[in-house]
Amino acid sequence: MKQLQVSLGERSYPIFIGRDLLAGGGLDWQRYIGGKQACVVSNDRVAPLYLDAVASQLEGKQLSTVVLPDGEANKTLDVMATVFDRLLTDNHNRSTTLIALGGGVVGDMCGFAAASYQRGVAFIQLPTTLLAMVDSSVGGKTGVNHPLGKNMIGAFHQPECVVADLSLLDSLPEREYAAGIAEVIKYGLICDAPFFEWLEQNIDALMARDGEALAEAVFRSCENKAKVVAEDEREGGRRAILNLGHTFGHAIETAEGYGSWLHGEAVAAGMSLAMALSVSLGWLDAEVLRRGNALMVKAGLPISPPPAMNVAQFLQLMGRDKKVIDGRLRLVLLQGLGEAVVTEAASPEQIAQILVDAGVQP
Ligand code: NAD
Ligand code: GLY
Repeated sequence: MKQLQVSLGERSYPIFIGRDLLAGGGLDWQRYIGGKQACVVSNDRVAPLYLDAVASQLEGKQLSTVVLPDGEANKTLDVMATVFDRLLTDNHNRSTTLIALGGGVVGDMCGFAAASYQRGVAFIQLPTTLLAMVDSSVGGKTGVNHPLGKNMIGAFHQPECVVADLSLLDSLPEREYAAGIAEVIKYGLICDAPFFEWLEQNIDALMARDGEALAEAVFRSCENKAKVVAEDEREGGRRAILNLGHTFGHAIETAEGYGSWLHGEAVAAGMSLAMALSVSLGWLDAEVLRRGNALMVKAGLPISPPPAMNVAQFLQLMGRDKKVIDGRLRLVLLQGLGEAVVTEAASPEQIAQILVDAGVQP
């Protein structure tokens, strides 16, 4: 087992990475539950696979469970409210601990429920997708979607610990696995050129889910994320680099309907657009764009946006991004491999040109 720390003063917490950690694999993760009550929040796809194993580790606790309907389309305030219904019906008090057992959707919703139930209770992240292990379970961003925009309602709320049990990925479908690889590649592009080169050399092993390669990729991803979050917990500045490709990606997810394009797929196409824009501004060598695209293609990820979208739709949806300040669109772009910046430098006309070049309707 490997261990990392997210260093945030009194809100610091560990990330555990290894196989067979959840169900009696030598990690006493239950010690992060402070009180007598706990509530596992999962969904109807993950719960049949892993809920019993988790519940078996919680004997002696007053345990409730909530099984949400699966899918990004259910990442809503209404669905999240069913967690509050369960907690109140079962008389959970402020010393309860919520346990997120699922991918990023469950993690974000459970985390937001924990942030707001009785003005904030503890929670633990038990991520079950690669994307959740390398990104969403770390850093304390929680929330739900609104029909008009992705992740528009939420809170910062850090977990007590994160347990990335790699054996849970054995049941993860190929497409979901690839979507997680998009966020792994992101760390190489934004802040870790040696990791990007390692990925180029190990992408075949990683796609074959080789145990050693997978553990290394999860560890180095979490290490990068923990570092950025420790520098800027509430995204006053630097943390925004974690959103490379996300402004384009969120526009794709919103336009296509939540769940049609997976988050990681939309981010992959968005990263390709952000790299192309960086090249067109003269900031990035075209060779980095070629290498980035080649790596994403090897991972089975899309590098072009949906051709049915048009430029006006893209720009309108991008204008709702949380990085917009006083109407000015800020994007994460690259000034080199591993050197991301947050910038207002790209004009709407330059963004439009990149979109058209990528096949979007003018
Ligand atoms: P997801 O949670 O929808 O999971 C993907 C699919 O895999 C779902 O159908 C899920 O039920 C299923 N699944 C999960 N674990 C499984 C397993 N072990 N075996 C078989 N099936 C399994 O999607 P995701 O990609 O994990 O997360 C995407 C979400 O994360 C988005 O809503 C995105 O906005 C959010 N996100 C949040 C942050 C953050 O910092 N909070 C960062 C990145 C992404
Ligand atoms: N995924 C972006 C962040 O955590 O800040």
